[in-house]
Amino acid sequence: MITFEGAAKVYPDGTVAVAGLDLTVETAKTTVFVGPSGSGKTTSLRMINRMVEPTGGTVRIDGADIREQDPSRLRRSIGYVIQQAGLFPHRTVLDNIATVPLLLGWRRGKARARAAELMELVGLEPAQAKRYPHQLSGGQQQRVGVARALAADPPILLMDEPFSAVDPIVRTSLQDELIRLQRELNKTIVFVTHDIDEAVRLGDRIAVFRPGGELAQYDTPERLLAEPVDGFVESFIGYDRGVRRLSFFPASALSLREDVVFDDEDRVERALTTVGDGGEPWALVVDGDRLPMGWVSAAQLLREPTGVPLGTLELAPYGHTFDVGTDSLRAALDAAVLSPAGRAVGVDDEGRVVGVVSQEDLGAALWSVAE
Ligand SMILES: Nc1ncnc2c1ncn2[C@@H]1O[C@H](COP(=O)(O)OP(=O)(O)OP(=O)(O)O)[C@@H](O)[C@H]1O
Ligand SMILES: [Mg+2]
Repeated sequence: MITFEGAAKVYPDGTVAVAGLDLTVETAKTTVFVGPSGSGKTTSLRMINRMVEPTGGTVRIDGADIREQDPSRLRRSIGYVIQQAGLFPHRTVLDNIATVPLLLGWRRGKARARAAELMELVGLEPAQAKRYPHQLSGGQQQRVGVARALAADPPILLMDEPFSAVDPIVRTSLQDELIRLQRELNKTIVFVTHDIDEAVRLGDRIAVFRPGGELAQYDTPERLLAEPVDGFVESFIGYDRGVRRLSFFPASALSLREDVVFDDEDRVERALTTVGDGGEPWALVVDGDRLPMGWVSAAQLLREPTGVPLGTLELAPYGHTFDVGTDSLRAALDAAVLSPAGRAVGVDDEGRVVGVVSQEDLGAALWSVAE
């Protein structure tokens, strides 16, 4: 547990970087510091490893005042990852990762073996061990940075915008990797970002900083999106917080309709029993394996001869589906919005249709979640 007790930093020129921070970072959880530029995130983070000395208040790790610990020993017990990895350009990947173990006096062989193990853990190929940082992509460099920070197995990992210099696709995969790693390692992670989506994805708890180095809100992602404490937090989170919040609710809560799903060998007349005049406006056609084929509208069904098999009709694309077992309401809503029928197709883990959900049903589910 890391505790900030009125921790403050005022620079000699009078700049208040952090104004009396009171915050408890829980052990084995990921805590994200988010906020606009200059709001004191980096300064607060660096107080933890004494790269910044507070001008007021106290920072404790597991109850012990960090001022009573030797700064270089403290730093070696805390992993630190920064933007653009901050790797040593003239050392190979393997030697970059082995840096801290060697500083701690490990034998070279043991340090390198540990480095090789970490390369695998963060998803780097063994063949990259002998390369130099400039021979790697930005995403690979960040992986090396994470491996280096984990090398001595520190209980605490500080990460200052580690993924902000890579493109969005690489960034998402680095976030996925971090989520996977954290499940395995259970570190106490403090992660700084500008990006509220990244914060919501990664954080067990999120601290929103406001200009002037003040803590605006400290909450779980779900509560932050549901109940921003004031206008600043609300505007920082963004106007679509309602939609984002849906990612915390499982799609499994939806009740899906099966009566508008028909086999490709079913005839038009059969579909017209539920779809058509005064009934449902769309039918979903599936193949013999219950994989989705496409939508047919009531208007079209009424125009076709009644004996025609549904699979022979021209179908509207079903768009993308959502997984009933693993996806969230956000995915279901997205699928419905993108579907020409305004309906989302729910599938099982093998892509077979379980049922469809209409906008009305989604609306009702969203409404009950919003309360
Ligand atoms: N050495 C320094 N001397 C004077 N002011 C400083 C110093 N270092 C940082 N500051 C100021 O302290 C404030 C907080 O800076 P900090 O780096 O903690 O912000 P941040 O939230 O990490 O911002 P960013 O998102 O841009 O990285 C800023 O106004 C910054 O200009
Ligand atoms: Mg910063």
